Amino acid sequence: MAILLLLDQVDPTPLETYLKSHPDCPDVRIYPHVGCVDDIDTVVVWKHPQGVLNNFPNLKLIASYGAGVENILSDHALPKDVPITRFVDETLSDQMAEFVLAVILNHRLHITHYRELQAASVWRCGTFLPDRNVTILGMGELGSTTANLLNLNGYNIRGWSRSEKNIPGVISFFGDDQLHASIADADFIVCLLPLTPKTKHILNNELFNATKKGAFLINVGRGDHLHEDDLMDALYQEQLSGAFLDVFSTEPLPADHPFWRHPKIHMTPHISSPTDKQKVARQILDNYHRIKRGEPLLNQVNPKRSY
Ligand code: GLV
Repeated sequence: MAILLLLDQVDPTPLETYLKSHPDCPDVRIYPHVGCVDDIDTVVVWKHPQGVLNNFPNLKLIASYGAGVENILSDHALPKDVPITRFVDETLSDQMAEFVLAVILNHRLHITHYRELQAASVWRCGTFLPDRNVTILGMGELGSTTANLLNLNGYNIRGWSRSEKNIPGVISFFGDDQLHASIADADFIVCLLPLTPKTKHILNNELFNATKKGAFLINVGRGDHLHEDDLMDALYQEQLSGAFLDVFSTEPLPADHPFWRHPKIHMTPHISSPTDKQKVARQILDNYHRIKRGEPLLNQVNPKRSY
């Protein structure tokens, strides 16, 4: 049997090398060089072409290369009853927490601004913004690790999630009714939600108007969490003071997109928390052998919950 790597916008070679470095690794193939479709019992996917997963009659496992699985779940021809797993890992959560802390500090200390002043040989001193209220939307592994790091750094954290959470140092808000209350005092709104039909475009005008004027948005969830026109409006109206975006509805972001040149939008190209290839290889193989032994899988997705 064989593992097929079906990765878009990701070089499959390092993952192939790490998988093959394990003596318990079966044959590994790289899409589109599938060989005999009957051999494929595991696929590792990232932004796969919709419908393709139905081509493998002996498929036993769909493993997401990353933490997000919205691209898999939105595949209308997803094979039924094949378990899906996602990548959950401490390193992924720690990197995300550091990234969010760095974005917040960059904003509070105006680091990027000083780089611009340097380029213009201007000596001008600003003040450190006092803002310390952070609301994190999404309190899964990434959200709670980020909350803990920010908390250790003296930030006041509110967390919003589907159900109530009990995380030391975090005021928990939950359910649709409490969404707006969770951001009422926020200086920073950080989106770390999974993308589901319910959370699509959750970062919209209604939400921006429920926060205090001048809040700063950080989207490190998914591009489709954000209603792009509403963000442009909120920045224009100065309801938001700025936004830091790492994820976009279309990636790579088209060259003519207005976000590129917007003075209040800072961007990175979906790098806030890259998958550790060595660790994802180990997790895929663990699950591969769990399937063979009929054991429960690590990080199995509940399609009803969408994550
Ligand atoms: C990255 O965005 C991931 O889902 O892991």
